[in-house]
Amino acid sequence: MTARAEIFPPAFLWGAATAAYQIEGATAEDGRGESIWDRFCATPGNVRNGDSGAVACDFYHRYRDDIGLMRELGLDAFRFSIAWPRVLPDGRGRVNAAGLDFYDRLVDTLLEVGIRPFPTLYHWDLPQALEDAGGWPARATAEAFVEYVDAVAARLGDRVTDWTTHNEPFCSSWLGYGTGLHAPGRTNVADAIAAAHHLLLSHGWAVEVIRRHSPEAEVGIVFDLWPVQPMSDDPADVEAARIMDGFNSRRFLDPVLRGEYPADVLEELAPVAPPVADGDLAVIAEPIDFIGVNNYSRWIVRADPASGKPLAVRAPEGQLTDMGWEVCPDGLYEVIMRLHRDYRVQKIYVTENGAAFPDVVTHDGRVHDVERQTYLADYIEATGRALADGAPVAGYFVWSLLDNFEWSSGYAKRFGLVYVDYPTLRRIPKDSYCWYRDFIAAGRPEPASSAQA
Ligand code: GCO
Repeated sequence: MTARAEIFPPAFLWGAATAAYQIEGATAEDGRGESIWDRFCATPGNVRNGDSGAVACDFYHRYRDDIGLMRELGLDAFRFSIAWPRVLPDGRGRVNAAGLDFYDRLVDTLLEVGIRPFPTLYHWDLPQALEDAGGWPARATAEAFVEYVDAVAARLGDRVTDWTTHNEPFCSSWLGYGTGLHAPGRTNVADAIAAAHHLLLSHGWAVEVIRRHSPEAEVGIVFDLWPVQPMSDDPADVEAARIMDGFNSRRFLDPVLRGEYPADVLEELAPVAPPVADGDLAVIAEPIDFIGVNNYSRWIVRADPASGKPLAVRAPEGQLTDMGWEVCPDGLYEVIMRLHRDYRVQKIYVTENGAAFPDVVTHDGRVHDVERQTYLADYIEATGRALADGAPVAGYFVWSLLDNFEWSSGYAKRFGLVYVDYPTLRRIPKDSYCWYRDFIAAGRPEPASSAQA
């Protein structure tokens, strides 16, 4: 199926997404404090090739040029994140004005060229000082988040109209504290469950703070939502899929959108139940304006014959990206429809979708990333189908604008519309960039002035 730009309403936002630690670099500049990712990367064995975000795409210094690329692309909106350790180097207390200045300049430069800033307040770079004091498993970290959000919203709240509190609390809690694949690299299930609860709690508290500084703004949260499908009709596999869906998705959706943890999930987690204090769920369920969906693929699971626990299996057929993720546009359709039908979400953004492929610069100096182009076209088509079926989808953001630091995979996985030659930091727009540019332009009314040309 080909995606047609004309089926999207004129107000639909076309965007691209990034995150601070993945693109900024300049980790030791202008008073930025240490983050858990700096520490995690410095520990041998954690990140492929010993890579770190110390330089990354050097966006901190090159943001004006990169905004030039966004402008040529025709973006309506740019999703980026704010680095907590730039703003509060010690996690709480002292505000570092130079850190806020950077985001102030970034927001203004975007607005000057008519691109709507979509900042995310937490995309995984916790100040190390807070981790040392217990990290997200400690309730005090949620309180510290409120201080940080207060400082940022007080400074940018007059111009930013679209705020995201957290990006993928499943990943920041489970990969960070459960499996240890991500910073801070801890491996304790109870800590991971507590971390998730405190991330959600801090979200609820933050909504109120943002609204105070930015009364006209819309506030939301971003979840990584992949549909979970059983490998077969065998009741054990179906049960395994239910458990995994509860753990990955409903554990986050239900508290935020229904004010409760799902009963089956609580039962499953009984020995390591989330540390819910009186009133927490009302805070977490504070009404918000949108849900952001990050979707790349789907899970297929079976019951582990030994334990009965869910076990992810390889997709039986279908193309895999360089991440080993199955290309499955229907999965995006499915999660959008679920938010619409089961949760009655009033506004949905696809806040991340894209693909890593092993791109190369060819003899003509270009990057012919046909697979990415097809991937994006098919997922955009699925988004349009959800829209046509009544889901209130308001925008779509490609992950990512630039090739960047892909967490524990280092620089080995390239997701960008723009190729980054890391030794020189030169930017090379890929063919998918040109495709997306032309696609966005095709959906726009002809400018009156060009009608004569
Ligand atoms: C995430 C993060 C991004 C990743 C992207 C590709 O969704 O995991 O938001 O930072 O880089 O998803 O894995």
